Amino acid sequence: MRRSRKAQRTRTVLVAGGAGFLGSHLCEALFRNDYRVICVDNFLTGRIENVTSLIGQSRFRLIEQDICNPLELGEPVDRIFNLACAASPPRYQADPVHTTRTCVIGTLNLLELAVRDGARFLQASTSEIYGDPEQHPQREDYLGHVNCTGPRACYDEGKRTAETLCFDYLRADMADVRVARIFNTYGPRMDPADGRIVSNLVMQALEKRPLTIFGDGRQTRSFCYVTDLVEGLLRLMDIEPNPRQPINLGNPGEFTILDLAGLVRELTGTRSPVKFLPLPEDDPRRRRPDIARARSLLGWSPKVPLRQGLLQTVVYFSDLGNGATEPVAATNGSGANGFAPGARDNPDATRVLYAEGEHPTEILVGSDNPRHGERSRAVEAISQGHRADGGRANRRLPATIVHHVSRMLRQPDDDASPTRRGRQHPRAGS
Ligand SMILES: NC(=O)c1ccc[n+]([C@@H]2O[C@H](COP(=O)([O-])OP(=O)(O)OC[C@H]3O[C@@H](n4cnc5c(N)ncnc54)[C@H](O)[C@@H]3O)[C@@H](O)[C@H]2O)c1
Repeated sequence: MRRSRKAQRTRTVLVAGGAGFLGSHLCEALFRNDYRVICVDNFLTGRIENVTSLIGQSRFRLIEQDICNPLELGEPVDRIFNLACAASPPRYQADPVHTTRTCVIGTLNLLELAVRDGARFLQASTSEIYGDPEQHPQREDYLGHVNCTGPRACYDEGKRTAETLCFDYLRADMADVRVARIFNTYGPRMDPADGRIVSNLVMQALEKRPLTIFGDGRQTRSFCYVTDLVEGLLRLMDIEPNPRQPINLGNPGEFTILDLAGLVRELTGTRSPVKFLPLPEDDPRRRRPDIARARSLLGWSPKVPLRQGLLQTVVYFSDLGNGATEPVAATNGSGANGFAPGARDNPDATRVLYAEGEHPTEILVGSDNPRHGERSRAVEAISQGHRADGGRANRRLPATIVHHVSRMLRQPDDDASPTRRGRQHPRAGS
């Protein structure tokens, strides 16, 4: 079932969570496809640096707001992607009540906006709604095995309730809603310190620290490269007619965590040993999507092999580690290339004009930032003109690692799995 994306282009797209890892890639892809893009984010885990390529563009608007509060955009939108929610376990467990509120009240607010504007809606759901699955690989009709009282429940059950809301709005014909169940996705712009398995292992390898593996490392995961995932989201939003059922998006290649660690060691050239730690509560043993539905309805399947995507990710983290930052130009506090006069030093500023290039980008700074009493992260990041991650990513990497990564980059692509390439098993040590 092929669609003409051009014929279905709409004018304005809202991306909630657009300053996050996936959201920022999605914003860029939509922008390239000629949409006007409104990014709404509370910068809980997202970073303004993720959208620097868009700041200053006339078709881009950035609003700092928590979706738990109703949205008043002052203009109608044609499509809404809801990606707003911290996705890494340490981050979503840091304030579990806020995570549940984001999934439930936040999604409800965005659905209401979709009803008001007659906008099409896509919910970024997750493979976590399957919990620790008893079915393998996971098909969309599998109802899941979720602990509703465990530490992951704020996210798992929050996302399940969000799906319930989506299908209730769809059944009631209130909004044209689509649901993507996203499996583990990785790539540049992942937060190096957010505790996800890919970023953890790559950063540990780059910094020559032991690679920490939870459990015995034989639990499996699938890893989808970010560009593949974004393509799946765009297709699901475009597809006619509405599939009216959730769709798994992920890479069906299955790797053990030990496989992943081995590949990371190979690509970075690290000799760091592997350190085994106890398995966290409710950690799923196996995770792999059945993507038959996405293949048949969307004509979609992932294209980027793990080795290739991981190398891009290693290069990204390696660049960050050497002090490279995505450019954030404005460092002065007034005039045409910075904040509206006076706004920079005013922690209560509600509206900031950030101008880089021809067009000022309006950043509406909500009064509802969850970090009460603190200056907005967006304002902070821009006023400092650099990363808002407390400098975590600015650690210098060992020169041997940097040379190794450059050498790997010059090698021709090879799609072979780590096993077929005869990589050294991390348990073997070195
Ligand atoms: N990356 C993955 O592997 C993966 C897998 C499954 C599902 N997902 C889903 O995809 C979405 C994006 O994930 P990601 O990996 O980019 O995570 P991320 O943490 O990088 O991005 C989430 C974004 O949402 C923002 N946000 C969080 N709560 C908000 C709120 N209440 N109001 C406004 N903004 C808020 C954050 O600041 C951040 O920019 C999430 O909904 C996540 O559940 C991601």
